[in-house]
Amino acid sequence: MVVGRPSSITFGERIEAPWHDADVVAVAVKRGTPPEPDAAGAVAADRYGVDLAAVVAAEKVSGRAGEVVRAPVQAPEGLPGRLFLVGIGDGSATELRRAGAGLARAVRGKKRLITSLADGAGADVVRALVEGLLLGGYAQPSAGLRKRTDSAAVREIALVGSVSEAGVEVGRVHALATVRARDLAATPSNTKNPAWFADLAVAEAEAAGLTVRVWDEHELAADGFGGLLAVGAGSPTPPRLVRIDYRPEDDGRRASRGASRRAPGRGAGPVVLVGKGITFDTGGLSIKPREGMVAMKTDMAGAGAVLAVLLACPQLGVRRPVTGLLALAENAVSGSAYRPSDVVRHYGGRTVEVTNTDAEGRMVLADALAYADAELDPDVVVDVATLTGAVTVGLGRRHAGLFTGDDRLAAALEEASAACGEGVWRLPLVEEYRRTLDSSVADLRHVGSDHKIGAGAVVAALFLREFAGGRCWAHLDIAGTGRSDSGEHEVTRGPTGYGARLLLRWLETLR
Ligand code: BES
Ligand code: MN
Ligand code: ZN
Repeated sequence: MVVGRPSSITFGERIEAPWHDADVVAVAVKRGTPPEPDAAGAVAADRYGVDLAAVVAAEKVSGRAGEVVRAPVQAPEGLPGRLFLVGIGDGSATELRRAGAGLARAVRGKKRLITSLADGAGADVVRALVEGLLLGGYAQPSAGLRKRTDSAAVREIALVGSVSEAGVEVGRVHALATVRARDLAATPSNTKNPAWFADLAVAEAEAAGLTVRVWDEHELAADGFGGLLAVGAGSPTPPRLVRIDYRPEDDGRRASRGASRRAPGRGAGPVVLVGKGITFDTGGLSIKPREGMVAMKTDMAGAGAVLAVLLACPQLGVRRPVTGLLALAENAVSGSAYRPSDVVRHYGGRTVEVTNTDAEGRMVLADALAYADAELDPDVVVDVATLTGAVTVGLGRRHAGLFTGDDRLAAALEEASAACGEGVWRLPLVEEYRRTLDSSVADLRHVGSDHKIGAGAVVAALFLREFAGGRCWAHLDIAGTGRSDSGEHEVTRGPTGYGARLLLRWLETLR
């Protein structure tokens, strides 16, 4: 599955070890007046016979995070031909993530990189560096005779110096979860249909020691998942619901030891993560314009992130039980597609009047949220969805819309966001707008009736809240952050894998 990625990161070698077999050696330059090369810089200066302070001055090296400058050197026999100076800014985690990403871009297609960027840094800084190194060189898997995806990233990375092993391991798991989410969203929809996605989830979840259950279209009908069935009705590839359970190894022991060890208000129920998994969104009969449809193979990015998170939970030793729900359907156009004016009965019996078949994400999420509330007794529910174009209008591409009525949950997710570099911005659940979802023919409408209200992302969140059953719940609208039109720092062009690192960061903090 993972192609064109560094096949190894090694560490533990001393800076003074021979730098044989590498084609790039990269040393750090910290911002300052003057910008300062690190200890490996001194070793490099000695071995290459070059005055690095003079190079820094002549090449106008600033030490800005992500800056990469090739020092003009004649490599003596046995030394890498390229000596790179990499800006690490103030040395913070965010700056090292950017430095790693900049370096990864600069060494694309090279075989072996030796770098001192992790030398002496704390675990949190090292994990950020490793995230940048593994994500900045990402290229989408590509098919075809002349494309070589394995030339995208550097193949081996050797981190020399005194390097935090824990930082490397956690950074690697977070980055590879992001890579998995990116790869899934990059997969074309003639391959990626709901059954394909469900089969992959089963294979990978079982391999990771997780419990999985899949509902096919018959089982969805038997259990009353009307939203998934309605959205999937127009496609020859029918919908699926996937449930993945992660249970920490000592869960039983912890539960029986009593609630006193848990944070107040915490029960024994799982954290439930719900992902929107529309494998292609044509808009259905309320069809999308030509241009707007092209990116819609990524409309399952929420479900991709949730799957990636569940697969990483055992590796990170997350301490709380986590259940993932992937709501998978293709929103297609055909004679069997659901229609504007249809009334749909969701899981649990609530009816919804459909007025725009392009608002399909909330239809499938409503079923999954209602199932979580009725069957899983969750402590907290977080859904992740490429839900509305409106959130991109308001927040752009760097911040996901965060909706929740729970200030503590908001603060926890904001803290995780600041630590991992995936932005969130809290938006209000405006109570006065709720009435726009009133329907005269069903329990509620799924899009607002009053167009003067606007606030598409807010109204969508209010609709989802109706199905969360008053649980502690948050909704992340990642329609803007799920894809990028350009590469910057650890984000590369195409699917971003947004949400995997944010949710893993948050889960790691839970006790
Ligand atoms: N998948 C789209 C939202 C989207 C748009 C994601 C652009 C990524 C990029 C979603 O299903 C959708 O079509 N939403 C509609 C809702 C409307 C019909 C109420 C939208 O945003 O226009
Ligand atoms: Mn849509
Ligand atoms: Zn959609």
